[in-house]
Amino acid sequence: MIKVLYIDCCIRGEQSRTRTLSQAFLEVLGKRGNFIIDHLSLMEEPLVPLAGDFFLQREKLLEEGTLDHPRFRYAHQFAKADRIVVAAPFWDLSVPALLKIYFENVCVQGITFDCDTENGSLYGLCRADKLCFLTTRGGTYNDSPLETGIPMIRNLSLFLGIDHFDWIAADGVDLLLEPPELIVKRAATQAQHLAAKW
Ligand SMILES: Cc1cc2nc3c(=O)[nH]c(=O)nc-3n(C[C@H](O)[C@H](O)[C@H](O)COP(=O)(O)O)c2cc1C
Repeated sequence: MIKVLYIDCCIRGEQSRTRTLSQAFLEVLGKRGNFIIDHLSLMEEPLVPLAGDFFLQREKLLEEGTLDHPRFRYAHQFAKADRIVVAAPFWDLSVPALLKIYFENVCVQGITFDCDTENGSLYGLCRADKLCFLTTRGGTYNDSPLETGIPMIRNLSLFLGIDHFDWIAADGVDLLLEPPELIVKRAATQAQHLAAKW
């Protein structure tokens, strides 16, 4: 069985169009029979940004090499997954801060990445071979340099050792040039096709 970690950052919950997109992807994946989906809803997690005592505790634990501390559970879970799916809306030209905070907690030296002390190069330690990022955007940002969500997730994926990156975006859902449901449906169909061969 292939263990998929589904990182759900669809903050608007049932209202979320990004969730509709991710459900389309995960439904097809689930029907294939050889995938187990582990749903991590970031909205229900006590995620804390790295600052103050929380930051200092991390420094101390890393210095001691205490990598089995409960606060590193997100990093261990991420590192062990066979595949990763991330769903998040496009906010302020990128992703919600909640997802960034999650990645702050995932990027832990010795768990999800490490450093070659001989030449100073960094390399990923994660088991997953593929990461798929699903998003929906209010405006049109296909091929725009202002779109910094997809590049950030792609770069984090590569940094953590996951070489294959896929993404699907429903673009321009708030512009009312087309019914938003139609745009999301089109992207959901793309997501289903990807899931069938992913
Ligand atoms: C806080 C916030 C910030 C947003 N920032 C942008 C933005 O920078 N550019 C854009 O095109 N749309 C932006 N949007 C619109 C969302 O990208 C769009 O409505 C998206 O479909 C929301 O996804 P959801 O339905 O999954 O919540 C923003 C929406 C919110 C609530």
